[in-house]
Amino acid sequence: MKIIETGDGSHSLLNESLSETYHSVHGAVQESVYVFIKNGLLDFIQKNKPKEISVLEIGFGTGLNALLALKESVEQKTKIYYTSIEASPIGEEIYSQLNYAKHIIRADADRLFKQLHSSPWNLPISVAENFVLKKIQSKIQEIVLPPSAFDIVFFDAFAPAKQPEMWELPVLTKVVLSLKPKGEFVTYCAQGQLKRNLKSLGLIVETLPGPPGKREMVRALK
Ligand SMILES: C[S@@+](CC[C@H](N)C(=O)[O-])C[C@H]1O[C@@H](n2cnc3c(N)ncnc32)[C@H](O)[C@@H]1O
Repeated sequence: MKIIETGDGSHSLLNESLSETYHSVHGAVQESVYVFIKNGLLDFIQKNKPKEISVLEIGFGTGLNALLALKESVEQKTKIYYTSIEASPIGEEIYSQLNYAKHIIRADADRLFKQLHSSPWNLPISVAENFVLKKIQSKIQEIVLPPSAFDIVFFDAFAPAKQPEMWELPVLTKVVLSLKPKGEFVTYCAQGQLKRNLKSLGLIVETLPGPPGKREMVRALK
């Protein structure tokens, strides 16, 4: 695993055995804010005005999406229950070097980022007043997800070319069944086969402009 700097100055990781980065090389923070926060979390809040939201993330990875969601839980005054599944957690020697706190304008971002990583696995932990984190250490293929439990899915697996099984019907069916009606599935990927798979599961698929450096992304509504 190698730490790299992306186009907006924020870090990402390069998984050298897959030859795959955890985020867009054009900007990790920029991509995560655009795809998962603006077009996922904030879109859902704007449409549904919920008092609380349950988010499911596939791939906790660097914890960047969790940190960005935590920031929104404060700014939007909305309680977030954030469940994140990760097969291969990164160690402290890696996460302690990541520069996300510098990119998130909050005095306590560094402390909160470390807390997201150091909090125990497989238990709901209140990391901040409005943010409950449950990290599950497992492959998505090996767990049972509760039905109709989540408002939003942040689908942040490695790309289909590197990890095709994550984008095929067995995993997608499990994830879509765990979404509530009106729930939203967001991902950086806009592959045709993914869109066909999501449509076959009954979702309404929207193709949106992508973040800088990428043509398109997908948001799908249940
Ligand atoms: C694109 S990266 C993740 C990004 C993460 N959301 C972030 O912001 O850093 C994909 C993540 O999925 C994890 N992963 C790979 N296979 C998985 C599986 N079968 N189940 C759950 N997580 C998996 C990887 O270890 C990696 O952390």
